[in-house]
Amino acid sequence: MYKMDKPILNVLKGEKPKHIPIWLMRQAGRYLPEYRQLRSKAKNFLNMCLTPEWATEITLQPIRRYNLDAAILFADILLVPMALGLHLDFKEGEGPLLQAIEDETSLEILAFDDKKLAPVYETVSRVKEKLDHSVALIGFCGAPWTVACYMIDGNSGGNFIKSKTWVHQRKDLLDKLLNKIIDASEIYLSKQVEAGAEVLQIFDSWAGLLQGNDFSRYVIEPTYKLVSRLKEKYPDIPIIGFPREAKELYEPYIKQTKVDALSIDYNVDLDWALQHLKTIKPLQGNLNPEILIKGGEPMTKAAEIILSKMGPQHIFNLGHGVTPLTPPENVSQLVEFVHNWKV
Ligand code: CP3
Repeated sequence: MYKMDKPILNVLKGEKPKHIPIWLMRQAGRYLPEYRQLRSKAKNFLNMCLTPEWATEITLQPIRRYNLDAAILFADILLVPMALGLHLDFKEGEGPLLQAIEDETSLEILAFDDKKLAPVYETVSRVKEKLDHSVALIGFCGAPWTVACYMIDGNSGGNFIKSKTWVHQRKDLLDKLLNKIIDASEIYLSKQVEAGAEVLQIFDSWAGLLQGNDFSRYVIEPTYKLVSRLKEKYPDIPIIGFPREAKELYEPYIKQTKVDALSIDYNVDLDWALQHLKTIKPLQGNLNPEILIKGGEPMTKAAEIILSKMGPQHIFNLGHGVTPLTPPENVSQLVEFVHNWKV
């Protein structure tokens, strides 16, 4: 049988890759002129996510331009709340508008309708067919806590005040909600795997809002549940966790959730990470997206620090997503620099 040669899978299995693999969160998006062109044709972001022809094209745009080691499915973490029954809209220039849960009754009636996500699975299989044998396909979902934040607060511009109130005063409702999200996410990710996803990433963008026991109960426990159920079904599919801004809590997260690798944000100190995280699992990250806007030597110097400290068991990425102001040619420079690094 022919051996798959995907550096990102090598790293995730603890093997030495032929070069350091690189992909970037939000590698498809507004910084690419070809994305903006399709975006204006499609009118609406949600339409783009739910039309396999467009979503496939957008997933592949950065792959055509750059020698990236992975493609990430073009979709959004808010599609799960939509399939649970909440109204979702993306208004130009305003980001997502998600209907918030108002009370216990509106929570009780939420029911996951997987058919609404059928176009996403169709996109996964179309992309898989078109990818070169060296490029891995990453599927994803939002972590239960982060998805719950959006469902409780709608889009609050990062405050999520009501969600934090539920943590202290409505644990009963929060538990019910998290269980619904875990069940839905299990199906969502399973179907992505069945359609061809080879790696999964769980985005916990708002993990940093919680500390101490709250972090254990609402970030670690629900993630552990989701990961365990997936591992039971698909023991060979690696899962990357990204509890953004978790600070020192990255350590219990990596020890207790059973994820295979940890994506670290750009505020994580690399020497601390080497000592406390890297000894446990491979890491991914953590170049500051701002430096990708600058490019040139400041960017390659910063990349060099990460590469020299992290060694061959590393997946190169940013500490958060590519920003719309990034000049596309800086991404080529970064990819070439990382690939030329001697492992
Ligand atoms: O990384 C990729 O290229 C894959 C596609 C992807 C998108 N969103 C497309 C997108 C992924 C993995 C996501 C994850 C996502 N979505 C997260 C977790 C990661 C993170 O950023 O912390 C979150 C919190 C969301 C919810 C969301 N979607 C917000 C808050 C916004 C508005 C902010 C913004 O950047 O515009 C979106 C919109 C969104 N999702 C865009 C893209 C390409 C921009 C849409 C546009 O205006 O064209």
